[in-house]
Amino acid sequence: MAEPFREPPMWFHAPPRPTRVPMPPAEASRPAVDLVVDGKAVSVPAGATLLDACAKLGLDIPTICQHPNMTPVNVCRVCVVELEGARTLVPSCSRVAESGMKVSTNSDRVRASRRMVLELLASSVDLSTAPDIQRRCAEYGARPERHGSPEPASPEGERDQRVPGHHHLPEPGIARRVAQPVKIDNDLYVRDYSKCVLCYKCVQACGDEAQNTFAISVAGRGFDARISTENAVPLTDSACVYCGNCIGVCPTGALMFKSEHDMRQAGTWDESAQKQTDTICGYCGVGCTLTLHVQDNTIVKVTSPADREITHGNLCIKGRFGYQSVQNKA
Ligand code: SF4
Ligand code: SF4
Ligand code: FES
Repeated sequence: MAEPFREPPMWFHAPPRPTRVPMPPAEASRPAVDLVVDGKAVSVPAGATLLDACAKLGLDIPTICQHPNMTPVNVCRVCVVELEGARTLVPSCSRVAESGMKVSTNSDRVRASRRMVLELLASSVDLSTAPDIQRRCAEYGARPERHGSPEPASPEGERDQRVPGHHHLPEPGIARRVAQPVKIDNDLYVRDYSKCVLCYKCVQACGDEAQNTFAISVAGRGFDARISTENAVPLTDSACVYCGNCIGVCPTGALMFKSEHDMRQAGTWDESAQKQTDTICGYCGVGCTLTLHVQDNTIVKVTSPADREITHGNLCIKGRFGYQSVQNKA
């Protein structure tokens, strides 16, 4: 006799939850590439750059425009190395390693090129809040003073109006400079383009490498090239959403928290007296890591570590600037 039909049970016990933390899919292993750097054999995965190979050997290569979380833009050329058989020096931050390459990272030609790049930057840009670049200038013996006496600062907004193709003839004995007044048009951050080395990192962070807001870009050509909002309008009239991700990647202090700028002006900024504490942003469920920089029991700025998987150093306006609610009011 056939079994009578039975309804399937309406309730069932779900299988036990996995105890293993979910992980991203394993990366496919890449074939190894063997090359020689400064006479030492090194092996890196296919697709790695010469800078990666140098790092694997513990070599200290200077970089300015390179950022671990962003696509190389090759604009500063301070990371150049000599590649046997190549006509020109190559930027190590972007040149992909190939089997059989022979690379020199500290030849006379490399050092002369790096020195010239650093000298030109130091003669035209205020590096007073860029200690890493200053250290490199000393290391490579840069003598910016040999490019002439510094030209006076441009009047407010004058550089913003320069038109591509209209170059000024250089004056003998005068070093061209990007000096100009600081742009202060909001309460959150200031733009001091006298300190800009045109590394493009802020443009990348504002654009498709992080924020996708595209509030800033490069305007002008040659020495007149500069970072600008659309039509050089104030930030408050631009597309900027004040995430501050551009400040997070700026290597020179050209983009700076207004709080830091004001304290530097008043002579009260003291990094040796600051404590950094990591915490988790409480504004939403993403859980971004915030690093609070605290001086005299007051939060003076907020950053985020570049090596955290959640945000890669990027934040939104609330995490970056919304710390007044927990500020010491005593
Ligand atoms: S604060 Fe954010 S949106 Fe504004 S310019 Fe910087 S990166 Fe772009
Ligand atoms: S403002 Fe800073 S991040 Fe932007 S290009 Fe200049 S130096 Fe680089
Ligand atoms: S760090 Fe390589 S070109 Fe700038």
